[in-house]
Amino acid sequence: MDSFSHPYTFSQRAQQLTSSTIREILKVTERPEIISFAGGLPSPKGFPIDAITSAYDRVLAESGQSALQYGPTEGYAPLRAWVANDLKRTGADDVSPDEVLIVSGSQQALDMLGKLFIDPGSKVLVEAPSYLGALQSFSLFQPKYESVPTDDGGVMPDSLTPERAAGARFIYALPNFQNPTGLTLSLERRKALVERCAALQLPIIEDDPYGELRYAGEPLPGLLGLGRAVGATVIRLGTFSKVLAPGLRLGYIVAPRPIISKLVQIKQATDLHTASITQMAVYETIKNGFLAQHLPVVRELYKQQCGYMLDAMDQHFPATTSWTRPEGGMFIWVTLPEHVDGTELLARAVERNVAFVPGAPFFAGPDAPANTLRLSFVTVSEEKIREGIAILGQLIKES
Ligand SMILES: Cc1ncc(COP(=O)(O)O)c(C=O)c1O
Repeated sequence: MDSFSHPYTFSQRAQQLTSSTIREILKVTERPEIISFAGGLPSPKGFPIDAITSAYDRVLAESGQSALQYGPTEGYAPLRAWVANDLKRTGADDVSPDEVLIVSGSQQALDMLGKLFIDPGSKVLVEAPSYLGALQSFSLFQPKYESVPTDDGGVMPDSLTPERAAGARFIYALPNFQNPTGLTLSLERRKALVERCAALQLPIIEDDPYGELRYAGEPLPGLLGLGRAVGATVIRLGTFSKVLAPGLRLGYIVAPRPIISKLVQIKQATDLHTASITQMAVYETIKNGFLAQHLPVVRELYKQQCGYMLDAMDQHFPATTSWTRPEGGMFIWVTLPEHVDGTELLARAVERNVAFVPGAPFFAGPDAPANTLRLSFVTVSEEKIREGIAILGQLIKES
């Protein structure tokens, strides 16, 4: 049988999946000599291995049978209650545990929300740029994307006109230290966004994996609390990936009950429920305030790493290049001189053993600016950050 004929037929959904040139180039980033600013991985230095080990030990010793048994699709009740209570810190005071659904990472939430809301051709509003993993999840359900204009302050609420919102199933928004730009939406814009969405009856998906990783500036209220105050429908996604460890695959969705009950049916069909033992061990880890001691350590680490990169960029990047200065999270977004293409720059950078992600794939629409890129600073040593940024600076100048 040759490579062009197979004894199987993929669904049309699967047939439209293509592997990208960028993914091919980035394969080389696994080589040890590469200084990679491409990954989106949290720093393993921030994984609380001892605390998680002893939590698993206690759960298995004290509640082994239920930890290893099937559990409810909605999630482990004490963890749901913990999440509902924890959201007070974001200004959402009245979340009930039955509005919380535990999921296997917020990436699963994105897939489930795609299943719930998107028919082929449905309009979906996204920021420009937006989280690539969300675009990948939603795209399987074949939406028609419409980008909402953004500037240096993130998404512009005034651009949410009735024409733009007409027929849209939702807007997907990342208000804190956005992936990929690192930008944070101001309080004024948050209020304007939820008010507009309430008036337009447009549901908001608020994805907030990085909100707890603020190392500069003042915390701002989340869209969930602000939205509920004005009657907007807000679906909030959270995750333990960035505050504990991503290998746990543990996150949650907060939404009005009718949405939760549909999502429960969808999750049941997907994987019955998220691992009981993981939910119980994470609850055991955090139930007595562990995050209050742990998060300052992670924030300090990320602040330092971000500082090394910004410092090196100030030193080595030409004045024709601009970049964001994040107040939290893991990413810096770079705008190159207009004639410099991020994908071409990546090919030249990889020859010099440096990698990053070009910006174009983060845009849902056809008019993606090619002169952009995303840098991640959390997993690379100070020395390698300085070396890699010096090389990038030189390559940009040579362009
Ligand atoms: C914006 C955003 N949403 C969701 C995810 C998925 O996170 P997880 O599935 O680990 O919770 C990520 C991961 O990097 C992300 O950056």
